[in-house]
Amino acid sequence: MPVTTPPSTLQGPRRPILELPDELISQIAAGEVVERPASVVRELVDNALDAGATQVTLRLQAGGVRLISVEDNGSGILRSELPNALKRHATSKIASLSDLESVGTMGFRGEALAAICSIAEVSLLTRVNTDDEPHGWLLDGRSGELQAAARALGTTVEVRELFFATPARRKFLKTDATELAHCIEAVRRHALARPDVGFAIWHDGKLVTQWRAVGSSGMEALRQRLSDVLGEDFVAQAVALNWPLDAQGDDGPQRLRVWGFAGVPDAARSRADWQFAYVNGRYVRDKTITHAARSAYEDVLHGHRQPVYALFVSLDPARVDVNVHPTKIEVRFRDGREVHQGVRHAVEAALAVPRSAAAPEPENTVPAPAWTPPARQAGLAFRPREP
Ligand SMILES: Nc1ncnc2c1ncn2[C@@H]1O[C@H](COP(=O)(O)OP(=O)(O)O)[C@@H](O)[C@H]1O
Ligand SMILES: [Mg+2]
Repeated sequence: MPVTTPPSTLQGPRRPILELPDELISQIAAGEVVERPASVVRELVDNALDAGATQVTLRLQAGGVRLISVEDNGSGILRSELPNALKRHATSKIASLSDLESVGTMGFRGEALAAICSIAEVSLLTRVNTDDEPHGWLLDGRSGELQAAARALGTTVEVRELFFATPARRKFLKTDATELAHCIEAVRRHALARPDVGFAIWHDGKLVTQWRAVGSSGMEALRQRLSDVLGEDFVAQAVALNWPLDAQGDDGPQRLRVWGFAGVPDAARSRADWQFAYVNGRYVRDKTITHAARSAYEDVLHGHRQPVYALFVSLDPARVDVNVHPTKIEVRFRDGREVHQGVRHAVEAALAVPRSAAAPEPENTVPAPAWTPPARQAGLAFRPREP
């Protein structure tokens, strides 16, 4: 192909290469990380959970555009480290490349608070549990001013006037009701992964919803949380799945585990809005998992019906790369086939077995609702695939 020179009008004068100011770098990063109020909610709740909170309270005004406040009872931040919390690439979660490769926290990039600060008014009120600091501290993100303030153990981050500095972004926002719905969805994704944490959501001074912490953990806790968040119907129409693939492999602990709940075919929906997938506790959108789950329903779901499920995949953190996308919603598996097979077999096995005969659920004390596999119900040909 002949090489054509671009029209001269496109060739501006050569401009100098300059380093961008910090604020602008953060605003550029914010473009990736913060699409709407729900993105801020996701990041702040991530931080609260990383700080070991057992109660997280979200307060919103005007769909989160006017105010997003996330209050937690986590570890708090030391006064000496407070200014660092808002700096770019400052984090307490990793310190080396090997930490990154085995990261177990939700955050690790150290850029969320800095990014949010560059596009909104941020304040941080926090108190740690040490005798040296008998009160909390309030940090104003814009001025950097720090003052003593009353606070119980934990942190409250307030984000006001989101996108005030980037009106172009603000124009893309939908109605308050839509933005609120996205914020609730963001908390819901966290809530399903952490039944041991209580969540409350307030909007314009009214309590929208709350999910109490479930004391226990494991299957029974998840069942309770699913029932609170998605409704009793979801749980009544779902089968528990627990797939210990390679349970005692040569290298000791199992390499891959898949557990959670999958809705029976009758519970399928017209939209794919109740498909929750988690990798090592992190909500993800992953084609491998979606495809594997979908194919487990292949013989029993017709047309465009969408299965419902909450699937938890656990594997050695070294076998999954979470540093693929700034929002960390995508992951890359070292062995995607292994994950695909695990998820598919887990769902197929659960669907194939009537609940009473399903894999034992040690913590399960709730009587299992009766459900018969479709093959027995209506003579539908339902046969799980062989590996
Ligand atoms: N709610 C919180 N409780 C305790 N510490 C927090 C909280 N939010 C943020 N921090 C601290 O501020 C740091 C920066 O947060 P962030 O910008 O979200 O980056 P990251 O979460 O990737 O480390 C965190 O590493 C953490 O030490
Ligand atoms: Mg974070």
